[in-house]
Amino acid sequence: MVQSLTPFRHAAREEEPPLTGVNDLAPVDRFARSLGLDAFLIGGLVQLTENLFAGRLWSFLPIDVRYHDLQHSAQASMCLLALGDGQRQAKVNPLSIRDLELGLAAMMLHDSGFLKTRGDEAGTGAKYTHSHVLRSCALAASVLPPLGLRRDEVDDVLGMIRCTGLAGRPDKANFSSESRRLVACMVASADYIGQMAAPEYPEKLPFLFGEFEEADDFSNIPREKRMFNSINHLLAATGSFWRGFVLPKLDNEFVGVYKYLETPGRPGRNPYIEAIERNVALISARGV
Ligand SMILES: [Fe+2]
Repeated sequence: MVQSLTPFRHAAREEEPPLTGVNDLAPVDRFARSLGLDAFLIGGLVQLTENLFAGRLWSFLPIDVRYHDLQHSAQASMCLLALGDGQRQAKVNPLSIRDLELGLAAMMLHDSGFLKTRGDEAGTGAKYTHSHVLRSCALAASVLPPLGLRRDEVDDVLGMIRCTGLAGRPDKANFSSESRRLVACMVASADYIGQMAAPEYPEKLPFLFGEFEEADDFSNIPREKRMFNSINHLLAATGSFWRGFVLPKLDNEFVGVYKYLETPGRPGRNPYIEAIERNVALISARGV
């Protein structure tokens, strides 16, 4: 029997719903170190991301969106590490520790594009919804070289971040290796799974609608051309969003990497997917 590399793995997978109690980067830091990722890099990434989101670095203001907040980045990062752990345990072309480190860098910064800087006081970072991926890439390109990433590695990280965009396609992007392309599939999968499997997902969805509203107002998108015209519309569409959009993406464009989240020795039992199904059922049962 394959022993888990981490004491968090079985506890998180079998005793309680995944991502329970993940509110900040402290559990990400512990999980990453337990997997053997470089302590200097992890410490630097955690400190950098915490300082950015708290408005303690350069001219950045504290994050002021309530859906794409630090908790979301932490939950997506935990999911990404669990995917990487599962992939390495499977022992078929296992990713290198460096592959995982770059994936974690991408995950932690993938929504930093919602941050605003001093002087940009109008509205919240939600106004940048439609451009946040590009903004996240620009910020990542500035802050990652001092943490020891080479230029080609930064390029791979930016490619991974771009894959978190709605139209992101790992199979169409350039990566320096197929293992980095696989990590991009994991980053994009963890972005969806990390938010939808989180225990807070049903309660946080109204904040997501608020972000869409502000973004569409900022971009002068007429009401009739908006994806959702009310919070009830968004809630009612959650089931079809999961089954008709996210799940096919996970299976096809992201090549089914979510299966690495299955409980060891129990094929088909995937606590993250089960948590999403429960959240989606809960949202549907509320009768919106
Ligand atoms: Fe995200």
